[in-house]
Amino acid sequence: MRIGIPCEIMPGERRVAAVPETVSKLIKAGMEVCVESGAGLQSYIDDTSYIEAGASIEPDHATVLGNADIILKVQRPVLDAKTGSHELDLMKSQATLIGPLYPARNRDLVEKLIAKKITSFSLDLLPRIARAQSMDILSSMSNLAGYKSVVMAADHLGKIFPMLTTAAGTILPAKVIVIGAGVAGLQAIATARRLGGVVIAFDTRPIAAEQVKSLGADFVSLETIHEQTQDTGGYAKEQSAEFYKNEQEIIRKYIKEADVVITTALIPGKRAPILITEEMVREMKHGSVIVDLAIEQEGNCILSEPGKIVIKHEITIIGLLNIPSTMPMNASQLYSRNLFAFLNYIGAQLSSGQLDLTDEIISGCLVTRNGEVVNPMVRQKLKL
Ligand code: NAI
Repeated sequence: MRIGIPCEIMPGERRVAAVPETVSKLIKAGMEVCVESGAGLQSYIDDTSYIEAGASIEPDHATVLGNADIILKVQRPVLDAKTGSHELDLMKSQATLIGPLYPARNRDLVEKLIAKKITSFSLDLLPRIARAQSMDILSSMSNLAGYKSVVMAADHLGKIFPMLTTAAGTILPAKVIVIGAGVAGLQAIATARRLGGVVIAFDTRPIAAEQVKSLGADFVSLETIHEQTQDTGGYAKEQSAEFYKNEQEIIRKYIKEADVVITTALIPGKRAPILITEEMVREMKHGSVIVDLAIEQEGNCILSEPGKIVIKHEITIIGLLNIPSTMPMNASQLYSRNLFAFLNYIGAQLSSGQLDLTDEIISGCLVTRNGEVVNPMVRQKLKL
């Protein structure tokens, strides 16, 4: 089977879906790999490195997309502003597409997938189970984003993180609050601790306490909780408006004293809960920094603006999107390893044309097949 690795054309995207390491693994596994010329350049990988790994290079986007049986993508297919053609229209009918497609938010894309009879796997829908860990693109990208959130905060904060004892006296360590101790939050805690910050973390799942404490941070238990906070997949469940109001009151006391607040609270498939109001921002110390990683789901802070760094009430609020793309070397490396693990898992089934729909990894992320939406969640949300 021929695998195509096109250049990513979404503005600002610097990652690539395969690196030479995964190309040679794919070739060893019996695949043929064709990479668009320049696809790796923004991740500092030149065409020669791909050729040395065994790939062929094609100069043209349309040829890579049009000749592949399987297309690997970092971003969902989009309209190419330069040529006026949609990437999906360039793909072969009945080809396979693998990447994060966010189908429930992208009806037009799903309609095109149906029309072209594309077999599509949306890896953002991969179940977070132990067996799928090596394929989990959201976890690997969140890990990087958690790290970078602290680095960005340190850069925008007018003070340093560690305690410093000098001849001119002592400087106290920065106080860091992390809201949401999932993948991104735990990495933010670890990074802030490495820089010497004093860290306090919040999460609605009591089970997160042990992980937070093992990283040397304090955990604040949200004592108002009487509700079930975790679903069977280990994700946080959406809570009542009253719950969030109580939570805001608890957080309020802590962020008044904070130098840095990193927010990562996420409810899968929903708008992120608003945990920081304008009044709470107004009460913070001037010069403090909020990094709102949940901005990808509209944000945990009411004042965050997607894609921007803004200063409101003397607080810097960072709402940058696609943070993993700012670390394209590591992000491409991890992302492509996740894709390789997934392909390795489904490859034999794809070749035989027999997908095991009783397998929760496959049924979780398979979106369309043979001109139909086969994913019940997507079918229900889009009413297709
Ligand atoms: P995750 O599901 O592993 O972690 C989210 C955590 O938030 C969970 O531990 C959950 O229990 C907790 N949570 C949910 N509601 C809460 C509440 N009311 N109060 C306190 N904690 C609460 O998710 P992950 O992978 O760590 O992602 C976190 C966020 O970072 C997501 O919004 C994701 O989209 C975002 N992200 C943003 C990127 C960017 O470029 N801006 C890049 C990668 C991730």
